[in-house]
Amino acid sequence: MLTADNQSLRGFIATTENMFPEEVLRIREPVSRELEMTSVIFELDRIGRSPVVVFENVAGSKMPVVTNVAGNRKLLAHCLGAEPVNLPTAFRERCQNYIPCEVVNKGAWDDVVMEGDQVDLTKLPIPFQFAVDAAPYITAGQICARDPETGVDTTGFHRLMLKGANRLGISLHSRRRMYEFHRRAEARGHSLPAAIVIGTHPLHYMGSMVYAYPPHVRKYEIIGGLFGEPYRLARCGVGDIEVPAAAEIVIEGEILAGVHEPEGPFGEFTGYASYRSTQNVFVAHRVRMRRDAFFHSVVSGMSRDHILMSCVTREGEILNALRRNLPNVRAVHVPHKTCGAFLAIVSMKKIAEGEPKMAMLTALGTELYTKHVIVVDDDVDIFDMEDVMWAVATRVRADKDIFLVPGVKSAIIDPTSDPKTFTVTKMGIDATAPLGEDFAERLTISDEQRARARAILSGAGIAA
Ligand SMILES: Cc1cc2nc3c(=O)[nH]c(=O)nc-3n(C[C@H](O)[C@H](O)[C@H](O)COP(=O)(O)O)c2cc1C
Repeated sequence: MLTADNQSLRGFIATTENMFPEEVLRIREPVSRELEMTSVIFELDRIGRSPVVVFENVAGSKMPVVTNVAGNRKLLAHCLGAEPVNLPTAFRERCQNYIPCEVVNKGAWDDVVMEGDQVDLTKLPIPFQFAVDAAPYITAGQICARDPETGVDTTGFHRLMLKGANRLGISLHSRRRMYEFHRRAEARGHSLPAAIVIGTHPLHYMGSMVYAYPPHVRKYEIIGGLFGEPYRLARCGVGDIEVPAAAEIVIEGEILAGVHEPEGPFGEFTGYASYRSTQNVFVAHRVRMRRDAFFHSVVSGMSRDHILMSCVTREGEILNALRRNLPNVRAVHVPHKTCGAFLAIVSMKKIAEGEPKMAMLTALGTELYTKHVIVVDDDVDIFDMEDVMWAVATRVRADKDIFLVPGVKSAIIDPTSDPKTFTVTKMGIDATAPLGEDFAERLTISDEQRARARAILSGAGIAA
């Protein structure tokens, strides 16, 4: 008997429905797999709403589709038992607490098994999200595989283009562990055994985005740290791969060695159609699922579902790197509208000249997606982009305060990266005021004055 439901996606939905009923939207009206589900989430976002959405009646399938699971800061914070404002801090503390996993005998996904010719991925309600997409895409497939050299496993989302009953195109453009594991398998002349896991708890999503950790650590141990208890896994049937016991669907197969086929275009988190891809191929040999499985899909494009987790995990990761040497760093913000990827803003209480540059070099070096870094003084609200732009406008002397680092490895799908080398020029902007100089004094309005102003306005019939 499996007791893994607090670690399952359905457990997360049940808890959310119970505690924050306004944050789960069940749509019973029939919807098409083509474009409709994605447009609904973007329309909700336009009116300032970001609930988990369950499409209960998707054309051509009995399986409900759950989406926008990670588009809401309040719900993610609740998963970590934190206040929304403390989400990056809670994440950065927990993700360094590696907890060994527990392996159980049987996964909840072992009810229905389809093998060989029975495998037909076209039967899954895989959404076709943007008009530009080459095909329907599995966007919430956690790919799990082991390093052919060390045996340490990893798990991460990689977009999967539906190509046929048992064939998926896959792009490993982040060029992190999965890319490297596949390269190592290929160098040994064989394909990489892998499992695609669909329908996992948002803390799995969160933990899978961690990129800076020691090579002997399993991502599952980081996810355990986020749960605060051992992550429960079960062995599936490919290689000796272990996958979350409470998942909805598991697709077992391999990423082929030496095979490259066209993959994409796909509507990416950059807000652009992405034609760039590593063009790998995954072949499915077996599919297992719960009897009442539902399908999980991440809304693609520049949706909150696609980006918010990257904002939170990058804020935490950059903060971790900075705090090692700079205790006076206050906070980091990776804004949604910079795709949760390409820009980081650092707040610091500067005590010595040169510290902002140290912070920028460290932050720029944490990983490939962080391309621009702005450092501001701690009087600037880094979550208010207008305040940040004010600091850039009034404290930056371009000849002294901006530096460029050309030729750095970057993201393949960053539209500014060189189409051949996939490198970019990184940029640091020091928007802090110089120390010890008679620099212009910022205007302020005291709390007292504000309270008095509110009282005056209230007398004039305006609630402020
Ligand atoms: C919804 C979503 C989709 C993603 N799709 C891809 C993808 O198609 N290819 C890729 O290389 N990285 C993709 N990423 C980023 C990786 O999941 C992330 O870099 C992860 O840490 C890689 O794990 P790995 O070290 O096991 O390779 C995606 C992230 C999210 C949140």
